[in-house]
Amino acid sequence: MRLLPRCSALLVATVIGGLAAGAQESGVNSQAFKEKVEICGACHDPSGVAKMEGVPHLAGQPELYVQWQLVYFRGETRKNDMMTPAAKELTDQDIRDLGTYYMSLAPASPTDPDPDPALTEAGAKIEDNRHCNQCHLEKFTGQGETPRLAGQREDYIIKALHDYQQGARRGRGNVIMPEIAYSLNEDDIKALAHYMSRQPGK
Ligand code: HEC
Ligand code: HEC
Repeated sequence: MRLLPRCSALLVATVIGGLAAGAQESGVNSQAFKEKVEICGACHDPSGVAKMEGVPHLAGQPELYVQWQLVYFRGETRKNDMMTPAAKELTDQDIRDLGTYYMSLAPASPTDPDPDPALTEAGAKIEDNRHCNQCHLEKFTGQGETPRLAGQREDYIIKALHDYQQGARRGRGNVIMPEIAYSLNEDDIKALAHYMSRQPGK
């Protein structure tokens, strides 16, 4: 008996299969791609290091992470008033190219003096107990479907953790991040967000 592949398996096949194809014929240098990515730059900044509150940095995010999140926004399993319209019209090829493109940009890295070293230290202690680095990697640079947190905007990390806590964001459909976020209190969230935002990009 042949089993029908599950929907998520199909999506994985589409994205992974496309990655191989995209390697030969990458569209990131085409005029059409430049016009598309200009729209993203209006909010995420052309550098991929966002200057607007609530808008995450994309520069240096793992390719697969960006691609999957765009698939979620497009399918509205991840909802956001600003991102839903931006993702709605993207083709699979656009999504592959956007993943490749943002991964190639230099990630944000704090250069100003830390405005609250005590909070950074508190965040480091919580991280030590919570082992966020198990998935986000030792320097929080992310891997595969797990995002980079190093140098990410503090306000956005707080928002993301609240979204998981409140069930507004389910992620991959499993409960990893919601479960972790439920067990954090407000002080933990503030300290972790500050700590992560202060980590160098590399
Ligand atoms: C009108 C502003 C706006 C535009 C235009 C826009 N974005 Fe976004 N984007 C956002 C906001 C705000 C979020 C955070 C959503 C949330 O809080 O869940 C976001 C989130 C994302 C994320 C998830 C990042 C993460 O760390 O989880 C990706 C990937 C992304 N955008 C890619 C794009 C791409 C690619 C484009 C162009 C096709 C684009 N965005 C256009 C505002 C925008
Ligand atoms: C078991 C693996 C795992 C562990 C441990 C883990 N994470 Fe995650 N995290 C993930 C995955 C996978 C995602 C992407 C989920 C999605 O698709 O929304 C994620 C997403 C996030 C995001 C959203 C970032 C963005 O760009 O939108 C934040 C913030 C985050 N994690 C913080 C943490 C913190 C803080 C800890 C430790 C307290 C932690 N994570 C521990 C796997 C993990």
